[in-house]
Amino acid sequence: MKDESTHVMPWRIEDIDLTRVERQRAATNEDLLLLLCAASFIESGTDLYTSNLSKFFNDDPEVSSWLNHEWEPEEMQHGRALKTYINYVWPEFDWDTAFANFFDEYSKTCDVEGFEKTRALEMVARCVVETGTATLYRAINECSDEPVLKEITDNIRTDEVRHYKHFFKYFKKYNKIEGNGRLAVLGALMRRVMEIKNEDSEIALRHVFAIRYPERKDDFAYNRNLSARVNSLVRRNLSADLCVKMLLKPLDLPARIQPGIHYPLAKITQHVFFR
Ligand SMILES: [Fe+2]
Ligand SMILES: [Fe+2]
Repeated sequence: MKDESTHVMPWRIEDIDLTRVERQRAATNEDLLLLLCAASFIESGTDLYTSNLSKFFNDDPEVSSWLNHEWEPEEMQHGRALKTYINYVWPEFDWDTAFANFFDEYSKTCDVEGFEKTRALEMVARCVVETGTATLYRAINECSDEPVLKEITDNIRTDEVRHYKHFFKYFKKYNKIEGNGRLAVLGALMRRVMEIKNEDSEIALRHVFAIRYPERKDDFAYNRNLSARVNSLVRRNLSADLCVKMLLKPLDLPARIQPGIHYPLAKITQHVFFR
């Protein structure tokens, strides 16, 4: 893990008073906690991805320094904050074991070959990921009625939107050099959108279920249904509007085209993200 001391964090989980958590209220929403757990695994696995990503940008001090000193510590804190919250509400849940199992599988899916062919296009892909997380935490925030979780997810969402803005700025910086056209940008965008669901969250949820419901570990149908139920929680609370607006930005479409494709894209997004 990288040193977090050089960067002043915009907020700190240590400053949030967990004794304010309404445990009973939080624990009744089991599906939401399963989802939070899966999110905490993916966030906590970020440092693996960053070392690859900063290698990809190693001769650009502006980008690699931001990745190492701001982006990564903030993402790691997202994982830690959610873990802290889960431990408080589900003290019996063995987060460390579940995460270790997840990480073992997940780490094999992250490699440099998974990157886009150019730096600008990789930045487009990163914008998609931040769009996904910003949308996810907004949805979680919306379906929770527990005040501390609302506060934490609001902080996280704000971070994700700021990350998006950085990646977008770096996309523009590199695309000035690379000059990728809209079709190339759209390609990178779609490739990453398609990837979002089928890998990371599927692996994470599976490892959450295995520790939470060990007796159902090998019950494939049960786990599939549970996954669908957890994902539908997000889909029902998804702000497709915000999501599409963020996704479309790197395409820099003329204003007159945008309203026409906005609605169909919002519908597609709803189906693709969190199926
Ligand atoms: Fe995050
Ligand atoms: Fe982020």
